Amino acid sequence: MIIVIANQKGGVGKTTTAINLAAGIAAQKKRVLLIDLDPQSNSSLSFIEPGSVNGGSYELFAEPDRAPEDLVYETKTPNLSLVPARISLAKLEAKMIGDFDAPFKLRDRIEQLKGKFDVIIIDTPPTLGILTVNAMVAADHVIIPIQSSYFALEGTDDLLETIEKIRSRPNPDLNLLGVVVTLFDKRTTISHDVESHIRNVFGKKAFKTVISRSVRLEESPAHKKSIFDHAPRSSGAAEYQSLSKEVLKRA
Ligand SMILES: Nc1ncnc2c1ncn2[C@@H]1O[C@H](COP(=O)(O)OP(=O)(O)O)[C@@H](O)[C@H]1O
Ligand SMILES: [Mg+2]
Repeated sequence: MIIVIANQKGGVGKTTTAINLAAGIAAQKKRVLLIDLDPQSNSSLSFIEPGSVNGGSYELFAEPDRAPEDLVYETKTPNLSLVPARISLAKLEAKMIGDFDAPFKLRDRIEQLKGKFDVIIIDTPPTLGILTVNAMVAADHVIIPIQSSYFALEGTDDLLETIEKIRSRPNPDLNLLGVVVTLFDKRTTISHDVESHIRNVFGKKAFKTVISRSVRLEESPAHKKSIFDHAPRSSGAAEYQSLSKEVLKRA
């Protein structure tokens, strides 16, 4: 099963969700592969030393002769493997212009990896460009993180339209698995207003679990750890564990 985490807005918690969902699902004894398609490579940096890497998601696209298995690295977290990203990914968009099969590259390349993992999670950049489209063409499910702030739903129309387009042709099976409210601050009215608005708009698609804004979650990438290793007793760990269970139940 392949799950893509997408929202073309930056700073809404995509990477934080990709990392901690991957770790949370791995903790439930599933074999998990995290594929980092964000040129800023924050997911990768949480789990791996950049110096120890010889190829990653860029090579998945640009070097078709390279075996995909060679681009997968084990992490210190049991059951969790990674295809890391590097800044070179940013060059791909230009390189792929004119390739008639550009949207299908990732799907073709990870075909051979599917059997080795129970769950593949793909982190995407903050655009609806060719990398995000590739992820959606390859995936079974999409999860949309939405930040509980002003203008939270701005841009979701474009995102839902992109999902519909992908569903109408290249990937009719693509399913919106759910929407998760992130960076929730229970002390503010706006957070509560946005949460109820999201529940009205998305109904059952909104996950019950809400991810609160917390210092522990904010600082965990700096320690190169998932929230479960950095602060296992924190609210952030409990929330991402609960989200992981909801995701496994729905998927
Ligand atoms: N629940 C949270 N509480 C506090 N900080 C968070 C939380 N989720 C994300 N952040 C921080 O907000 C910033 C943006 O989050 P990130 O996951 O990188 O978003 P995106 O991948 O959508 O750009 C990062 O600095 C991250 O550490
Ligand atoms: Mg990100």
